[in-house]
Amino acid sequence: MRALGNRLQTVAEMLRTYTPFRCVADIGSDHAYLAVYVMKEGIASLSVSSDINEGPLERGQATAEKYGVRPHFVLSDGFDKLGDFDFDGACICGMGGELIADILRRYGPHPGCRFFLQPMTAQDDLRKFLWENGYEITEERYTTERGKPYGVLCAVYTGENTLYEYSDLFLGKFRPDTKEFASYKAKVHSQAFKRKSGLTACGLDTAEVDALLKCSE
Ligand SMILES: C[S@@+](CC[C@H](N)C(=O)[O-])C[C@H]1O[C@@H](n2cnc3c(N)ncnc32)[C@H](O)[C@@H]1O
Repeated sequence: MRALGNRLQTVAEMLRTYTPFRCVADIGSDHAYLAVYVMKEGIASLSVSSDINEGPLERGQATAEKYGVRPHFVLSDGFDKLGDFDFDGACICGMGGELIADILRRYGPHPGCRFFLQPMTAQDDLRKFLWENGYEITEERYTTERGKPYGVLCAVYTGENTLYEYSDLFLGKFRPDTKEFASYKAKVHSQAFKRKSGLTACGLDTAEVDALLKCSE
């Protein structure tokens, strides 16, 4: 099938390492490239492609028809309408970290499911939510697409919270020695630099941001 871009390809490769899945749900699937790829590549024999809007679901159906696979399509806000599906893998990609955290919060704890999360912004909010709400981040991978860095997190609900440093919220705990992570780190550094200017202008404490700036050099 059509090659996925690096961002979704990284999610797919991460999924592949945990095969076999009974079923994979893709929340906010838009074109359903991931749900279709998962079935085409035998990562799961079944996938559920869901979106909050009709237009993306129609686009997804067109993708599935084109590639001759039949994922389920469900109009749903987050996991709200997915109660009938016995999925053990779920992807939430291409949305802000706050929205991803909100979707997970509303879904509640599901220890039997492995989550593949690709936040476009607010990665710190997502990691904070996961570590403070009983999820373990078991792996993070990094890639770049059209010059922009992306991180993909794999998380499972264990019921145990995780201790973290301020810098972990922005850089994660894995920090591989790769050029993709270097690019991710450079973006974090430049955002931290801007945050420091804002704090300094308001006369606020910059100790945490200073520590992050040091970690992301
Ligand atoms: C930018 S697209 C990302 C598509 C694909 N997941 C990707 O990573 O390329 C975001 C999609 O999420 C959908 N979406 C936004 N909020 C949602 C929610 N609460 N529940 C389900 N889908 C949602 C949007 O309609 C849109 O199709």
